[in-house]
Amino acid sequence: MKILITGGAGFIGSHVVRLFVNTYPNYEIVNLDKLTYAGNLANLKDLETKPNYRFVKGDIVDAGFINTLFETEQFNAVIHLAAESHVDRSITNPLEFVMTNVIGTVNLLNAARTLHKNNPEQFKRFYHVSTDEVYGALGDEGMFVETTAYDPHSPYSASKASSDHFVRAYHDTYKLPCVISNCSNNYGPNHFPEKLIPLCIHNIQNSKPLPIYGKGENVRDWLFVIDHARAIDVIFHNAKEGSTYNIGGHNEWKNIDVIRLLCRMMDKKLNRPEGTNEKLITFVTDRAGHDLRYAIDATKLKEDLGWVPSVTFEEGLNLTVDWYLNNKEWLQNVTSGDYQHYYEQQYTHR
Ligand code: NAD
Ligand code: DAU
Repeated sequence: MKILITGGAGFIGSHVVRLFVNTYPNYEIVNLDKLTYAGNLANLKDLETKPNYRFVKGDIVDAGFINTLFETEQFNAVIHLAAESHVDRSITNPLEFVMTNVIGTVNLLNAARTLHKNNPEQFKRFYHVSTDEVYGALGDEGMFVETTAYDPHSPYSASKASSDHFVRAYHDTYKLPCVISNCSNNYGPNHFPEKLIPLCIHNIQNSKPLPIYGKGENVRDWLFVIDHARAIDVIFHNAKEGSTYNIGGHNEWKNIDVIRLLCRMMDKKLNRPEGTNEKLITFVTDRAGHDLRYAIDATKLKEDLGWVPSVTFEEGLNLTVDWYLNNKEWLQNVTSGDYQHYYEQQYTHR
């Protein structure tokens, strides 16, 4: 089986590529990535010499390039993760999110449709990796299930919702063998330090302010990234065509509580007196349109396919902090260049 994984140099994609390359030596894995600010080949250094792994640099928005790639490579399946993924950036530059997340996805669907039309036996699966943010925001009660109506609020979630609709449309209209999963917030190694957890790990290390939007009472449902990759593996191999699965760790936390836990954990690891890091917490202007609460009901995935998370939040966070403390060069590299400029702009426009 020759599988195209898009966005494999990013945070989640790198864990999915590693899992597939190491678990399935008989599969040929082609990683297509544009290497935007969020893509980093250092995330996959250990795979460079693997005979069943190949990297291709390219842009999913370029339809000509995508069509030629599919014609040449004759993939058997696609796992599509490439996207613009950061909500705050989507507020500043929505069109980039439309281009990559919507147009890029439709380009891949068109190329896959041609392969499937020419040889339905050969092209087996188009797996679209999506987000729980398409469902909008919850109040204090309830959870998102697979049938929750779409109600996206940010330009990011609107673009992901649109791409989900196109994937379903290609399944219903052209019988393309599609599957979608919608996952909650991931955390773990290789996470770009613009997202809450890696940003705060980075800032604690450097004794810089920890920016908490609003009162820090928004709730997110956190899942260790390797558990997400495991779920993608199970769904890719076993889900029925046209189905959707929610993925989540049943692990809801208010943002302020996550950061307090992180501060305590890092006081110990950095040998700082208890309470030192909490003093860095700084409440800043809220994110526009900030969704109050996300919570995923992943019962269908557990009951149909037997998937459950493998680590608790405390275990996963502990592994994550250790990874960042042991990979200072990675952090140094991704925060050089434009990073400082972006980061400063973030807080002056509020
Ligand atoms: P990321 O930003 O870390 O990585 C995205 C990758 O896509 C990068 O390697 C980037 O270079 C690549 N890319 C961007 N534009 C491209 C283009 N035009 N052509 C080719 N490659 C391009 O994102 P992530 O957090 O790893 O998210 C991966 C996927 O999972 C996304 O589709 C996202 O919507 C979804 N998702 C993320 C989370 C989360 O918590 N991070 C949760 C649920 C779903
Ligand atoms: O739910 C899945 C989604 O989770 C994914 O689809 C997105 O790609 C991913 O980025 C993530 O979106 P969030 O907006 O929830 O993640 P982020 O880390 O940006 O923010 C988490 C929470 O923390 C959110 O309530 C906003 C808040 N926050 C974020 C940042 C960056 C802060 O309080 N301060 C910050 O500096």
